[in-house]
Amino acid sequence: MANYKDKVLETAEFLKKRIQKLPEIGLLTGTGLGESTEDIEISASFEYKDIPHFPVSTVESHHGRLVTGGLESKQVIAMQGRFHLYEGYAPCDVTFPIRVMQELGVNTLILSNAAGGLNLAFNTGDIMIISDHINLSGSNPLVGPNEETWGIRFPDMTCVYDKNLVQLAESAGRDMDIHLRKGVYAGLKGPSLETPAETRFLKIIGADAVGFSTVQEVIAAVHAGMKVLGLSTITNINNPDNPMPATVEEIIEVAGEAAPRLAKIIRKVIKNIDANKIG
Ligand code: HPA
Repeated sequence: MANYKDKVLETAEFLKKRIQKLPEIGLLTGTGLGESTEDIEISASFEYKDIPHFPVSTVESHHGRLVTGGLESKQVIAMQGRFHLYEGYAPCDVTFPIRVMQELGVNTLILSNAAGGLNLAFNTGDIMIISDHINLSGSNPLVGPNEETWGIRFPDMTCVYDKNLVQLAESAGRDMDIHLRKGVYAGLKGPSLETPAETRFLKIIGADAVGFSTVQEVIAAVHAGMKVLGLSTITNINNPDNPMPATVEEIIEVAGEAAPRLAKIIRKVIKNIDANKIG
């Protein structure tokens, strides 16, 4: 752990030297959703491969770039592309950027992902506010000695997704006439997609959407004391009684179509964060 923490500190130092103003809000975007960070007035940009100790995203649909700058008068740091357990990364690699953000002073984390819809009332292209999650990845980034300077041993998980941020997202949707869904995200390891029996199981246990990301980062962020907002783009619908193969191409296309709406929601939430006394 000491070694891991040293690496996080070195990466944070590297960035601090190159960033004019420290960020307060972190953005983490997933498959086909990197565009949702296009509005940022970029002050510094880094390829992951140029950042010391940073993992490198191996998924084609992820940009692999970290940018910092201003958005709606707030300082943000945005990761365009994340790391997944299915790529072979350990949970501590997946959450490395979250720890770096913590060291930079980020107190609010907004994540987006592409997800399969389990709730049959959903349509492809819908954006779902994550109200809660179920960690079915078989991993947890907090396993191992606890780093006390980062957070407590047994972080409370009764209210992971910040209620105020959820409200801000809901009112942003209403204001801009963007219909938003709300539901539970099941996080699996992947990369194989779900069998009909697994889809049925996920529905029964209360999940509305399923994907291969987000929960590791969110657990680390909660441990770090960050306020969290999660948004899923529903790229395909998984109906166990009428299973339809989902292709990556379709998933990326639908995520790309939804990205401008997602960007609008994120921007409006960020604009209103102070108004609602968050952070
Ligand atoms: N399952 C898992 N992850 C996903 C899916 C899915 O159906 N769609 C987009 N990401």
